[in-house]
Amino acid sequence: MKITVLLGSPHKKGSSNLLAEQFIRGAREAGHTVTVLDAAHMNIHPCLGCEHCGMNGPCAQKDDMGKIRDALLGADLAAFVSPVYYFGLSAQMKMVIDRFYSYTMRLSGKGLQTVLITAAWDSGEDVFHAIEVYYRKLCSYMNFQDRGMVLGGGCGTPAMTARSPHMREALELGRSLQVPRLPCGEPSGLRPEDRPV
Ligand SMILES: Cc1cc2nc3c(=O)[nH]c(=O)nc-3n(C[C@H](O)[C@H](O)[C@H](O)COP(=O)(O)O)c2cc1C
Repeated sequence: MKITVLLGSPHKKGSSNLLAEQFIRGAREAGHTVTVLDAAHMNIHPCLGCEHCGMNGPCAQKDDMGKIRDALLGADLAAFVSPVYYFGLSAQMKMVIDRFYSYTMRLSGKGLQTVLITAAWDSGEDVFHAIEVYYRKLCSYMNFQDRGMVLGGGCGTPAMTARSPHMREALELGRSLQVPRLPCGEPSGLRPEDRPV
């Protein structure tokens, strides 16, 4: 599978990216091709709501969102990675999602598989409530197929995250993604150098 990972934290070496690294490791081990886009450090602006696109046309804004659009439209699975900010996603990640607007039809028409990876300081029961409800609603509206969530409670700093059970959880989520099999039974994710001669 082709996997696009969208990073949404201002901290390049932060907690959510640490969990994402584990997920990526697991996914690569399972034979998938992973592309990482650090959306939080790309030139991306909020949706202007100008309706120029009519939800299915070119966006009036010319920024890095085109790179994200192409990566998502070419992917089988997308990973949304974000810290928890006031019980929601980071503004950086929300901005990316709002900008789906100009290609809503194409993106929702492809049955994209998705995962959510988040990190929060607190580990109380309700920390992830709003994010979970939002993500599930987004999946249902955009016809995304949810493949799993890592809700990283108690991941307030990279040191806390590294000690948390969510590292293993993220790794296992990546490993659990199955590579589709070709009709002959050969996993399609095999690299040419791995193939038996
Ligand atoms: C603006 C802001 C809002 C935050 N809101 C929450 C919150 O609502 N609940 C929580 O548990 N942690 C909250 N945190 C803590 C972060 O989620 C936590 O430190 C996380 O590890 C940051 O992830 P990162 O290193 O990937 O950016 C907040 C931090 C900031 C800077």
